[in-house]
Amino acid sequence: DGNLEALFRPKSIAVIGASEKPGKIGYAVMRNLVEYGYDGKIYPVNVKGVEIEINGRKFQSYKSILDVPDEVDMAVIVVPAKFVPQVIEECGQKGVKVLPIITSGFGELGEEGKKVERQIVETAHKYGMRILGPNIFGVVYTPAKMNATFGPTDVMPGNLALISQSGALGIALMGWTILEKVGLSAVVSIGNKSDIDDADLLEFFKTDDNTKAILIYMEGVKDGRRFMDVAREVSREKPIIIIKAGRSERGAKAAASHTGSLAGADKIYEAAFKQSGVLRALTIGEAFDWARTLSNLPEPEGENVVILTNGGGIGVMATDAAEEEGLHLYDNLEDLKVFANHMPPFGSYKNPVDLTGMAGAEAYEGAVRDALANPNMHAIAVLYCQTAVLDPRDLAKIVIREYNESGRKKPLVVAIVGGIEAKEAIDMLNEEGIPAYPEPERAIKALAALYRWSNWKARQKKE
Ligand code: ACO
Repeated sequence: DGNLEALFRPKSIAVIGASEKPGKIGYAVMRNLVEYGYDGKIYPVNVKGVEIEINGRKFQSYKSILDVPDEVDMAVIVVPAKFVPQVIEECGQKGVKVLPIITSGFGELGEEGKKVERQIVETAHKYGMRILGPNIFGVVYTPAKMNATFGPTDVMPGNLALISQSGALGIALMGWTILEKVGLSAVVSIGNKSDIDDADLLEFFKTDDNTKAILIYMEGVKDGRRFMDVAREVSREKPIIIIKAGRSERGAKAAASHTGSLAGADKIYEAAFKQSGVLRALTIGEAFDWARTLSNLPEPEGENVVILTNGGGIGVMATDAAEEEGLHLYDNLEDLKVFANHMPPFGSYKNPVDLTGMAGAEAYEGAVRDALANPNMHAIAVLYCQTAVLDPRDLAKIVIREYNESGRKKPLVVAIVGGIEAKEAIDMLNEEGIPAYPEPERAIKALAALYRWSNWKARQKKE
């Protein structure tokens, strides 16, 4: 779909309602576009024809989009609701392809607003345009260095596409992904979903090489059947993680007054997600824990998981989590014996492999390398309790080097428990796209999510 293509890779963007006043949304969108490095053409449109200055760069605005002397692929709309219908008409005459409408004050207000919303969609369709929103914070696509939002600027590039029905939560999550080093390919605020909806976006991301996994915050869908059909198709290629809020009766009522979503019985969603291979997360933390692993790691080629640790305690906890999640810990002692080379005599090469508290750089290096090299070991969890023997940041460097040298052919997750250096080490790993967590269970559960999706996929192929 060329319109969706224009939403993520526009050659030129108009900001209608662009403002010269810092603090206004029409200024923030301009600033994010410039500061994040979008290198297509940017055309501010402002009725007063003001000049807009951003970091010393001056933009002369046009009084109407019809005055722009060039083709415009995408027009971000930030004018008050009462001017939107006229602006859309002009965008149609101009031949714009896609319209993210940030403006609030449509369907979320009730019947009257819904009527106007239907009318603007009708106008858009008459001209072959698509609408994202209204009532959104915008759209980001990191491969095109495009940040057309009034959210945070410095989104970390990566392979996860984030779709949010909630505006404020979506903006907050953008900031949170920066702090927590979650790499994103895209962020899409879908707001009232008057036109472009989750299913349309899933179809785009299915074939988008820059996206390896999709995370959706959802309160409800309008066309449940289509969504599930598309989700099932997409899940065969890429994992979809969904936070579907409004699980409880009272939560569903809150969702109805928030986004007007009729949540429907949660059991129906639950069953439909299962059928479509969608991974349902119950919390933000869980969703991003899984997303880190699913957007960065290859699928395992078999069931054998190996846990490497320097601490018996976290090894035991990881083992409990693995058992609960139905993961299979590899237990061929002939193969596991290789780890005896990297531990003192009182270590244990039985899985979980305990390199002991004496484990330093060499022990980890050797053990990680051997685990990566053995084709019978299909997935690896590297655990570390911070001790004075090995700086966690040095461990991070070792894991990054070994994993890259191995060609990243099997999934590897890391958990480091400790203090400030542990946190730094976790960030270093995540910046390199190696999922790292501050707790062993979280690493194991993320790996389990990867297995769940991968196994679902395998079952589909057999059917
Ligand atoms: N064509 C071009 N420019 C126009 C037009 C027009 N037809 N009409 C007005 N403008 C200009 C104005 O002159 C102004 O520029 P200026 O600052 O140079 O004077 C600019 O467009 C904006 O118009 P204002 O009347 O100043 O409107 P304001 O910026 O206060 O509000 C907005 C516009 C942001 C779209 C507001 O109506 C709105 O909907 N806010 C809510 C946005 C939101 O929260 N969306 C959901 C996000 S998700 C979440 O919940 C966080």
